Amino acid sequence: MREVLVLNGPNLGRLGSREPEVYGSQAFDDLVETCRATGRALGLHVDVRQTDDEAELIRWVHEAIDARTPVVLNPAAFTHYSYALRDALAMRTAPLVEVHLTNPATRETFRHTSVVAGVADGTIAGFGLMSYQLALRAIAELAAAAAAGAGRDAAGTTEGNTG
Ligand code: DQA
Repeated sequence: MREVLVLNGPNLGRLGSREPEVYGSQAFDDLVETCRATGRALGLHVDVRQTDDEAELIRWVHEAIDARTPVVLNPAAFTHYSYALRDALAMRTAPLVEVHLTNPATRETFRHTSVVAGVADGTIAGFGLMSYQLALRAIAELAAAAAAGAGRDAAGTTEGNTG
């Protein structure tokens, strides 16, 4: 079963009690269960992690790069200023989808910039936990397309050799 990492940055472990009028009443455990259940339905093994520590998040990104593991990432506030995280993500070797629970474009001006978006395949924002479900769906599609492409390339090479 294909492994996917769902990585979450600072303060997301506080979901449920953190500004519920902004982030809703569902807790981080609900996010974890939503991702696992979505993964099961898509044939993905989903490993959900959260940290308040930039260095730890970057170490997890390095781990994903080395193992060619696709990543769904909610960088939280790091989205807006962590060039170190962006530089790590720029080395990625597998699909990357940026997610946000809220839609940062509708919020304070400092949230309108994502330093991560430019190195991601795409961004899904504003749908609460559904942002993660949509992101996992995108990862499943991207991984399937990449596998099909690799299969075609292998077949093409063989034909080339015999032709
Ligand atoms: C967030 C949006 C960020 O601006 C904020 O710093 C977060 C959460 C979201 O999921 O909506 O912590 O990434």
